[in-house]
Amino acid sequence: MKAPFEIEWMGGPAEHCFRKARPSTESLPWGTVDTSKFSAAALDMARASWTEVAINEYRAVASFAEVLRALVDTKAPLDLIGMTSDFLADECSHVEIASRMAMELGGAVERMVDLDRFAVRPRTANAFQRANELVLRVSCVAEAFAGGTATVSYGRTTHELPRQAYETILRDESRHRRMGGIYLEWALEKMDEKEVERLGDVLFDALKSVAPFWKSPSKKRSAPDAATQDELQALGWLPSSTFAEVAREVVLRDIVEPLATVGITISEEERAHLFG
Ligand SMILES: [Fe+2]
Ligand SMILES: [Fe+2]
Repeated sequence: MKAPFEIEWMGGPAEHCFRKARPSTESLPWGTVDTSKFSAAALDMARASWTEVAINEYRAVASFAEVLRALVDTKAPLDLIGMTSDFLADECSHVEIASRMAMELGGAVERMVDLDRFAVRPRTANAFQRANELVLRVSCVAEAFAGGTATVSYGRTTHELPRQAYETILRDESRHRRMGGIYLEWALEKMDEKEVERLGDVLFDALKSVAPFWKSPSKKRSAPDAATQDELQALGWLPSSTFAEVAREVVLRDIVEPLATVGITISEEERAHLFG
Protein backbone atom coordinates (compact mmCIF):
# COMPACT_ATOMS: atom_id res chain seq x y z
CA MET A 1 0.00 0.00 0.00
CA LYS A 2 1.26 3.46 -0.86
CA ALA A 3 1.93 5.96 1.92
CA PRO A 4 3.71 9.34 2.08
CA PHE A 5 7.47 8.98 2.38
CA GLU A 6 8.44 10.17 5.85
CA ILE A 7 11.50 9.70 8.01
CA GLU A 8 11.52 9.59 11.77
CA TRP A 9 14.56 10.44 13.92
CA MET A 10 14.94 9.24 17.46
CA GLY A 11 17.95 11.06 18.95
CA GLY A 12 19.58 9.85 22.18
CA PRO A 13 21.53 6.57 22.10
CA ALA A 14 20.34 5.66 18.58
CA GLU A 15 21.70 8.92 17.17
CA HIS A 16 24.87 8.64 19.26
CA CYS A 17 25.72 5.16 17.93
CA PHE A 18 24.83 6.10 14.33
CA ARG A 19 26.95 9.26 14.49
CA LYS A 20 29.84 7.23 15.83
CA ALA A 21 29.51 4.89 12.84
CA ARG A 22 29.17 7.71 10.27
CA PRO A 23 30.59 10.93 11.81
CA SER A 24 31.19 12.87 8.56
CA THR A 25 27.55 13.92 7.97
CA GLU A 26 27.74 16.58 10.68
CA SER A 27 30.82 18.19 9.15
CA LEU A 28 29.07 19.14 5.87
CA PRO A 29 28.56 22.93 5.53
CA TRP A 30 24.86 22.84 6.50
CA GLY A 31 23.08 26.18 6.54
CA THR A 32 25.12 27.72 3.71
CA VAL A 33 22.51 27.73 0.91
CA ASP A 34 21.02 31.22 0.69
CA THR A 35 17.62 30.34 -0.75
CA SER A 36 16.91 34.04 -1.55
CA LYS A 37 19.54 33.79 -4.33
CA PHE A 38 17.58 31.13 -6.23
CA SER A 39 14.28 31.29 -8.09
CA ALA A 40 11.24 29.54 -6.67
CA ALA A 41 11.14 27.26 -9.73
CA ALA A 42 14.75 26.10 -9.21
CA LEU A 43 14.23 25.57 -5.48
CA ASP A 44 11.05 23.55 -6.08
CA MET A 45 12.74 21.28 -8.59
CA ALA A 46 15.83 20.83 -6.43
CA ARG A 47 13.67 20.07 -3.36
CA ALA A 48 11.75 17.47 -5.37
CA SER A 49 14.97 15.96 -6.71
CA TRP A 50 16.65 15.65 -3.31
CA THR A 51 13.42 14.14 -1.93
CA GLU A 52 13.61 11.54 -4.70
CA VAL A 53 17.28 10.91 -3.90
CA ALA A 54 16.28 10.30 -0.26
CA ILE A 55 13.67 7.77 -1.43
CA ASN A 56 16.19 6.05 -3.71
CA GLU A 57 18.75 5.90 -0.92
CA TYR A 58 16.09 4.42 1.36
CA ARG A 59 15.42 1.87 -1.37
CA ALA A 60 19.17 1.12 -1.36
CA VAL A 61 18.94 0.31 2.37
CA ALA A 62 16.14 -2.17 1.58
CA SER A 63 18.00 -3.56 -1.45
CA PHE A 64 21.29 -4.15 0.37
CA ALA A 65 19.36 -5.72 3.25
CA GLU A 66 18.03 -8.25 0.69
CA VAL A 67 21.52 -8.72 -0.80
CA LEU A 68 22.98 -9.25 2.66
CA ARG A 69 20.37 -11.87 3.58
CA ALA A 70 20.95 -13.73 0.31
CA LEU A 71 24.75 -13.69 0.88
CA VAL A 72 24.25 -15.15 4.34
CA ASP A 73 21.83 -17.80 3.03
CA THR A 74 24.22 -18.89 0.30
CA LYS A 75 27.22 -18.88 2.67
CA ALA A 76 29.24 -16.33 0.75
CA PRO A 77 32.72 -15.55 2.16
CA LEU A 78 32.41 -13.93 5.58
CA ASP A 79 34.58 -10.91 4.74
CA LEU A 80 32.32 -10.18 1.76
CA ILE A 81 29.26 -10.42 4.04
CA GLY A 82 30.97 -8.07 6.50
CA MET A 83 31.83 -5.62 3.71
CA THR A 84 28.21 -5.62 2.50
CA SER A 85 26.72 -5.22 5.98
CA ASP A 86 28.65 -1.96 6.33
CA PHE A 87 26.76 -0.60 3.28
CA LEU A 88 23.49 -0.50 5.25
CA ALA A 89 24.81 2.27 7.51
CA ASP A 90 26.24 4.04 4.43
CA GLU A 91 22.83 4.08 2.75
CA CYS A 92 21.13 5.27 5.96
CA SER A 93 23.57 8.18 6.08
CA HIS A 94 22.80 8.94 2.41
CA VAL A 95 19.08 9.09 3.25
CA GLU A 96 19.94 11.55 6.01
CA ILE A 97 22.13 13.71 3.76
CA ALA A 98 19.55 13.83 0.94
CA SER A 99 16.72 14.62 3.40
CA ARG A 100 18.72 17.41 4.97
CA MET A 101 19.54 18.77 1.49
CA ALA A 102 15.78 18.94 0.77
CA MET A 103 15.20 20.68 4.11
CA GLU A 104 18.01 23.13 3.38
CA LEU A 105 16.21 24.13 0.18
CA GLY A 106 12.88 24.72 1.90
CA GLY A 107 11.62 21.24 2.80
CA ALA A 108 10.86 17.90 1.20
CA VAL A 109 7.97 17.50 -1.24
CA GLU A 110 5.24 14.91 -0.81
CA ARG A 111 5.96 11.60 -2.51
CA MET A 112 4.00 8.37 -2.12
CA VAL A 113 5.90 5.09 -1.77
CA ASP A 114 4.92 1.45 -1.43
CA LEU A 115 7.40 -0.01 1.03
CA ASP A 116 6.04 -3.54 0.50
CA ARG A 117 7.24 -3.38 -3.09
CA PHE A 118 10.32 -1.31 -2.47
CA ALA A 119 13.11 -3.81 -3.02
CA VAL A 120 13.30 -6.63 -5.55
CA ARG A 121 12.63 -10.02 -3.97
CA PRO A 122 13.49 -12.61 -6.60
CA ARG A 123 11.62 -15.91 -6.59
CA THR A 124 14.45 -18.19 -7.54
CA ALA A 125 14.98 -21.86 -6.85
CA ASN A 126 17.80 -21.45 -4.35
CA ALA A 127 19.79 -18.98 -2.25
CA PHE A 128 22.76 -18.94 -4.63
CA GLN A 129 20.57 -17.88 -7.57
CA ARG A 130 18.88 -15.30 -5.38
CA ALA A 131 22.25 -13.86 -4.37
CA ASN A 132 23.45 -13.82 -8.00
CA GLU A 133 20.35 -11.97 -9.14
CA LEU A 134 20.29 -9.49 -6.27
CA VAL A 135 23.98 -8.61 -6.53
CA LEU A 136 23.55 -8.10 -10.28
CA ARG A 137 20.45 -5.90 -9.91
CA VAL A 138 21.63 -3.92 -6.89
CA SER A 139 25.40 -3.55 -7.11
CA CYS A 140 26.17 -4.07 -10.80
CA VAL A 141 23.17 -2.14 -12.16
CA ALA A 142 21.43 0.17 -9.65
CA GLU A 143 24.57 1.31 -7.80
CA ALA A 144 26.65 1.61 -10.97
CA PHE A 145 23.91 3.68 -12.61
CA ALA A 146 23.33 5.95 -9.60
CA GLY A 147 27.04 6.41 -8.93
CA GLY A 148 28.01 6.95 -12.58
CA THR A 149 25.35 9.58 -13.23
CA ALA A 150 25.90 11.33 -9.88
CA THR A 151 29.62 11.64 -10.67
CA VAL A 152 28.76 13.85 -13.65
CA SER A 153 26.25 15.91 -11.63
CA TYR A 154 28.90 16.32 -8.93
CA GLY A 155 31.44 17.56 -11.48
CA ARG A 156 29.13 20.39 -12.55
CA THR A 157 27.84 21.44 -9.14
CA THR A 158 29.24 24.79 -8.05
CA HIS A 159 27.65 25.24 -4.64
CA GLU A 160 29.80 23.92 -1.79
CA LEU A 161 27.07 22.15 0.18
CA PRO A 162 25.70 19.93 -2.61
CA ARG A 163 29.29 19.36 -3.79
CA GLN A 164 30.30 18.00 -0.40
CA ALA A 165 27.03 16.06 -0.09
CA TYR A 166 27.79 14.33 -3.42
CA GLU A 167 31.42 13.79 -2.46
CA THR A 168 30.42 12.02 0.77
CA ILE A 169 27.82 9.87 -0.98
CA LEU A 170 30.04 9.01 -3.97
CA ARG A 171 32.94 7.93 -1.76
CA ASP A 172 30.69 5.18 -0.40
CA GLU A 173 28.96 4.38 -3.68
CA SER A 174 32.23 3.41 -5.33
CA ARG A 175 32.60 0.55 -2.81
CA HIS A 176 28.97 -0.43 -3.34
CA ARG A 177 29.63 -0.81 -7.07
CA ARG A 178 32.90 -2.66 -6.58
CA MET A 179 31.21 -5.24 -4.40
CA GLY A 180 29.39 -6.67 -7.46
CA GLY A 181 32.67 -7.44 -9.24
CA ILE A 182 34.19 -8.94 -6.10
CA TYR A 183 31.13 -11.15 -5.62
CA LEU A 184 31.18 -12.31 -9.23
CA GLU A 185 34.86 -13.32 -8.90
CA TRP A 186 33.73 -15.76 -6.22
CA ALA A 187 30.38 -16.76 -7.72
CA LEU A 188 31.06 -17.12 -11.44
CA GLU A 189 33.15 -20.27 -11.16
CA LYS A 190 30.31 -21.91 -9.23
CA MET A 191 27.70 -21.08 -11.89
CA ASP A 192 26.69 -23.33 -14.76
CA GLU A 193 26.09 -21.99 -18.24
CA LYS A 194 22.32 -21.87 -17.71
CA GLU A 195 22.67 -19.61 -14.69
CA VAL A 196 25.01 -17.22 -16.50
CA GLU A 197 22.46 -17.11 -19.33
CA ARG A 198 19.64 -16.43 -16.86
CA LEU A 199 21.64 -13.53 -15.46
CA GLY A 200 21.74 -12.08 -18.98
CA ASP A 201 17.92 -12.06 -18.91
CA VAL A 202 17.96 -10.47 -15.44
CA LEU A 203 20.35 -7.82 -16.77
CA PHE A 204 18.02 -6.96 -19.64
CA ASP A 205 15.08 -6.74 -17.25
CA ALA A 206 17.03 -4.45 -14.90
CA LEU A 207 18.18 -2.20 -17.75
CA LYS A 208 14.62 -1.81 -19.04
CA SER A 209 13.79 0.08 -15.86
CA VAL A 210 16.51 2.71 -16.42
CA ALA A 211 16.09 2.98 -20.21
CA PRO A 212 13.31 5.64 -19.98
CA PHE A 213 15.96 8.08 -18.72
CA TRP A 214 17.45 8.26 -22.24
CA LYS A 215 14.60 6.87 -24.35
CA SER A 216 11.93 9.30 -23.15
CA PRO A 217 13.65 11.84 -20.89
CA SER A 218 10.70 14.26 -21.01
CA LYS A 219 8.58 11.75 -19.10
CA LYS A 220 11.21 11.46 -16.40
CA ARG A 221 12.18 15.11 -16.05
CA SER A 222 10.40 18.20 -17.26
CA ALA A 223 12.54 20.83 -19.01
CA PRO A 224 12.91 24.13 -17.16
CA ASP A 225 14.07 27.36 -18.87
CA ALA A 226 17.79 28.09 -19.35
CA ALA A 227 18.18 30.35 -16.29
CA THR A 228 16.52 27.77 -14.03
CA GLN A 229 18.74 25.06 -15.54
CA ASP A 230 21.86 27.04 -14.57
CA GLU A 231 20.58 27.41 -11.02
CA LEU A 232 19.71 23.72 -10.87
CA GLN A 233 23.19 22.79 -12.04
CA ALA A 234 24.68 24.89 -9.23
CA LEU A 235 22.47 22.94 -6.81
CA GLY A 236 23.48 19.60 -8.28
CA TRP A 237 21.07 18.79 -11.12
CA LEU A 238 21.83 18.18 -14.79
CA PRO A 239 19.46 19.41 -17.51
CA SER A 240 17.27 16.51 -18.71
CA SER A 241 18.91 16.31 -22.17
CA THR A 242 22.40 16.11 -20.63
CA PHE A 243 21.20 13.57 -18.09
CA ALA A 244 19.78 11.41 -20.89
CA GLU A 245 23.16 11.31 -22.68
CA VAL A 246 25.05 10.66 -19.45
CA ALA A 247 22.63 7.88 -18.43
CA ARG A 248 23.02 6.05 -21.77
CA GLU A 249 26.80 6.34 -21.68
CA VAL A 250 27.05 5.17 -18.05
CA VAL A 251 24.90 2.10 -18.75
CA LEU A 252 26.99 1.07 -21.76
CA ARG A 253 30.42 1.86 -20.28
CA ASP A 254 29.95 0.92 -16.61
CA ILE A 255 27.33 -1.85 -16.80
CA VAL A 256 26.88 -3.57 -20.18
CA GLU A 257 30.55 -3.68 -21.24
CA PRO A 258 32.16 -4.85 -17.98
CA LEU A 259 29.47 -7.52 -17.49
CA ALA A 260 29.97 -8.75 -21.06
CA THR A 261 33.66 -9.40 -20.27
CA VAL A 262 32.57 -11.98 -17.68
CA GLY A 263 29.94 -13.52 -19.97
CA ILE A 264 26.78 -11.83 -18.65
CA THR A 265 25.34 -10.41 -21.83
CA ILE A 266 22.21 -9.12 -23.49
CA SER A 267 21.32 -10.21 -27.05
CA GLU A 268 21.77 -8.02 -30.14
CA GLU A 269 17.97 -7.52 -30.30
CA GLU A 270 17.84 -6.50 -26.66
CA ARG A 271 20.72 -4.11 -27.24
CA ALA A 272 18.90 -2.57 -30.18
CA HIS A 273 15.72 -2.29 -28.12
CA LEU A 274 17.55 -0.44 -25.34
CA PHE A 275 20.02 1.69 -27.26
CA GLY A 276 18.97 1.61 -30.93
FE1 LIG B 1 23.61 5.51 -1.48
FE1 LIG C 1 24.93 2.81 -2.59
